[in-house]
Amino acid sequence: MRAILSVWLFAALPLVYAAFWMEEIAHQGIAAFNPDKTYTVFRNVRDYGAKGDGIIDDTAAINAAISAGNRCGGYGCVGATISPAIVYFPPGTYLITNPIVGLFYTQIIGDPNDMPVIKGASTFPGGKALLDADPYLSNGKLNYISTNVFFRQVRNIVFDTTAIPYEVWAVHWPSAQATVIHNCVFKLSPNFEEGHTGIYMEEGSGGMLTDLVFYGGQYGAQFGSQQYTVRNLTFSGSQTAILQIWNWGFTYKSLSINNCEIGLNMSSPDVGSVTVLDSSFTDVGTAIIVGRYNSSATGLGSLLIQNVKYTNVPTVMGNLDGDAILAGNPSGAVFEYGYAKGNLYSPEGPSVFQGRDIPFDQPSALKLQDQYQYYERSKPQYEDYPASSFLSARSYHATGDGSTDDTKALNDLFQAAASSSTNIAFLDAGYYLVTDTVYIPANARIVGEGLSSVIMGAGEKFSDVSNPYPVVQIGQPGEVGYIEMSDIIVSTQGPTAGAIAIQYNLKTPTLGGQVTASTPPSGLWDVHVRFGGFGGSKLQVADCPITPDITNVIEPACIAGYMSMHITSNAGNLYMENNWLWVADHDIEDWNQTRIDVFVGRGLLIEGSNIWLVGNAVEHHTLYQYQLVNATDIWMGQIQTETPYYQPNPQAPYPFTQLNADLYDPDFITDCPTTSAGTVDQLPGNAPCAMAWALRILGSKDVMVFGAGLYSFFNNYSTNCSTNRAGENCQARIMWIQDGIGTEVLGSTSGLQVYNLNTIGSVSMVTSKGQDMAIWDQTIATYASTVGIFRNDGVNVSAMA
Ligand SMILES: *[C@@H]1O[C@H](CO)[C@@H](O)[C@H](O)[C@H]1NC(C)=O
Ligand SMILES: *[C@@H]1O[C@H](CO)[C@@H](O)[C@H](O)[C@H]1NC(C)=O
Ligand SMILES: *[C@@H]1O[C@H](CO)[C@@H](O)[C@H](O)[C@H]1NC(C)=O
Ligand SMILES: *[C@@H]1O[C@H](CO)[C@@H](O)[C@H](O)[C@H]1NC(C)=O
Ligand SMILES: *[C@@H]1O[C@H](CO)[C@@H](O)[C@H](O)[C@H]1NC(C)=O
Ligand SMILES: *[C@@H]1O[C@H](CO)[C@@H](O)[C@H](O)[C@H]1NC(C)=O
Ligand SMILES: *[C@@H]1O[C@H](CO)[C@@H](O)[C@H](O)[C@H]1NC(C)=O
Ligand SMILES: *[C@@H]1O[C@H](CO)[C@@H](O)[C@H](O)[C@H]1NC(C)=O
Repeated sequence: MRAILSVWLFAALPLVYAAFWMEEIAHQGIAAFNPDKTYTVFRNVRDYGAKGDGIIDDTAAINAAISAGNRCGGYGCVGATISPAIVYFPPGTYLITNPIVGLFYTQIIGDPNDMPVIKGASTFPGGKALLDADPYLSNGKLNYISTNVFFRQVRNIVFDTTAIPYEVWAVHWPSAQATVIHNCVFKLSPNFEEGHTGIYMEEGSGGMLTDLVFYGGQYGAQFGSQQYTVRNLTFSGSQTAILQIWNWGFTYKSLSINNCEIGLNMSSPDVGSVTVLDSSFTDVGTAIIVGRYNSSATGLGSLLIQNVKYTNVPTVMGNLDGDAILAGNPSGAVFEYGYAKGNLYSPEGPSVFQGRDIPFDQPSALKLQDQYQYYERSKPQYEDYPASSFLSARSYHATGDGSTDDTKALNDLFQAAASSSTNIAFLDAGYYLVTDTVYIPANARIVGEGLSSVIMGAGEKFSDVSNPYPVVQIGQPGEVGYIEMSDIIVSTQGPTAGAIAIQYNLKTPTLGGQVTASTPPSGLWDVHVRFGGFGGSKLQVADCPITPDITNVIEPACIAGYMSMHITSNAGNLYMENNWLWVADHDIEDWNQTRIDVFVGRGLLIEGSNIWLVGNAVEHHTLYQYQLVNATDIWMGQIQTETPYYQPNPQAPYPFTQLNADLYDPDFITDCPTTSAGTVDQLPGNAPCAMAWALRILGSKDVMVFGAGLYSFFNNYSTNCSTNRAGENCQARIMWIQDGIGTEVLGSTSGLQVYNLNTIGSVSMVTSKGQDMAIWDQTIATYASTVGIFRNDGVNVSAMA
């Protein structure tokens, strides 16, 4: 009876089917700083002549939809924020005979209720990609520098290469921060000799990949990038599910690899570190292939595995010669609670470590009740909601034109969204200039249009460095409730030295400290902070040139912010995925990618509890990128930082000389016991110490870091300090751990577990209670040095293995 009923319900669905809200709503988004006032952000490929019938060649129509307006690509343009596009695909099968070329700042989005298929014709050229995010030019170079391919999404698309009888990639994805491929399916040839690959990524500095399904292919995916966070990927019937071409650090969470010859081949000598969590390998010949490692580079190929199930897997780990290093069970299940290979600091080290069945501590507050996996949740797309549920910012009289004050309109909009359980605030594409705080109350759900919706603080209220003031405030201090926000950028214009881009105060209820399906954490997906370097910011090449020759002279108008984001002490239960808090190091609009100097004091300060940072990067803030103070139960998986390129000219904290004790600002004079030359006595290399911290942890408990890339490439714009292997010395120290601060007594920092920590340019990799625990040349890996395990929780890992 029940089965019949569910069949009937399923059959009834098409009767109520309507197009995805994103297709149906009025399209009122604008590109505020584009000189062409008729420029269109939202493009439905059908309006450009695509048929989606699977017969007619839609290549030209789709490329016309992408390139309409004066967009960035192919003629010298290497970046632009003023010409964003959302290219929308209604249901259908779109046959293509040549690549679809993704220009800068393009979001390719399909109907998630009936996912469109992009199908390569049998005549599709070999060696190319159905969707090429960054094509090779005739000079053999990528059109866009891969590490500057920002602000891209591909969502809800089925890529089908099965008609093509030779080598082809579904998506070519050299990519950097604020990019994601989300909810896509890759249908590849089951004939491995045909050489298909789902995602081909050979360069970049990402990024996030999530909710992807791959069928067939010689390779489901080939990944090479500095770092990436990869979550919820399923592979079936690939010869090799994932070929890791190279990396410094990749974090894989919730992989499901089924019926493949090889799961993850990470044997390349250019692979620094891999973290695999909460995954399963079923009917796989060899789950993981590792390489032959150089005994002088003991950090290479660091590997951390937690909570992985192998079912009918004869070899869990094999080497390049096909020998088994770890056996599995050809007809049964093996569960791996914890495996690690790499240099161990516990907290002293290093010792070369390799071990299986390690009972790693796993804080239950970071897991869904009753489950062994760490909590995870995908970006809501509201696909079950009709267009009428979306409250447009335009209907609330917000102009988004980058010059009208939209403060009141946005506050009204967010109040309205919060007061209804069926409404969602929709921020049509545009720049919403605000002169006072925008308050987002509990129960609000907010979604932007692609990545083209920017809330931009400007004016006096944000300009006083001794009176920091939030641009966007999520919850008032002490407020309890739940919010969802996605696809929004928070930013500023001009001199706003007191601006805190996002202040997050909300405490989201749990069931006795535990997240459950009915009490999920609040979420911020693809919510980014961007200071300077974009058209309309008044912080571009002409405004904020670099000042290498003039020590300590800073244009006051280029002091752009106080802090990117503050998660305050009452805040709790927040899930963040794919967020990039960026102080511009170059002007995106400039065709030479010219460097600029924009100053923002602090990156992400976390004082709350139960926070997940899944795919998270914070770059170029003056005092620190991440600072955790009295924080508890924090999950960080692949985090990434960069120290400002100008330091130590001037050194930290300049120009933020007024330290804020309430925020536990670092005191570089106390923390850098220096010689008169400004260097740390006991460390080699004469490296400057008063440099931004990448990660500073004070009095915090149960902090889990599953992959970190903390980079310091420059001194006074020169990379000599990071490229000269004889002495990695851009900065003395980069990661700092302590208990209390000053006279303030916080608890001790305890239960800290860091896996696959990659640093570049710092002499000391971890400094704990004033002691330098790991030095870069003890654990050489790739271009980065890699610590496999650092723990200060008093557990002797060696004894457990
Ligand atoms: C994983 O991705 C699939 C779609 O590919 C989706 O249906 C599922 O909900 C996702 N699971 C999680 C935990 O995000
Ligand atoms: C694994 O990858 C390496 C390249 O990094 C390759 O040489 C080797 O053949 C691959 N192993 C298998 C079994 O495919
Ligand atoms: C091994 O690593 C050391 C240190 O990085 C390097 O100097 C040497 O060239 C490497 N040898 C090989 C064979 O790659
Ligand atoms: C910074 O580098 C420039 C060269 O690019 C040099 O002229 C200047 O003296 C340097 N400044 C300091 C403080 O080292
Ligand atoms: C880029 O730099 C070159 C050489 O310095 C200069 O000739 C050119 O005008 C610059 N182009 C742009 C768009 O700024
Ligand atoms: C630290 O956090 C705890 C709650 O986890 C709170 O009770 C305590 O007051 C905080 N301490 C400081 C110094 O903020
Ligand atoms: C960087 O190193 C190169 C090669 O040794 C040298 O010519 C150059 O002057 C150095 N630059 C700085 C800023 O020290
Ligand atoms: C940790 O355990 C190992 C192996 O049992 C032992 O050799 C080592 O001395 C222990 N270290 C500490 C600090 O207790």
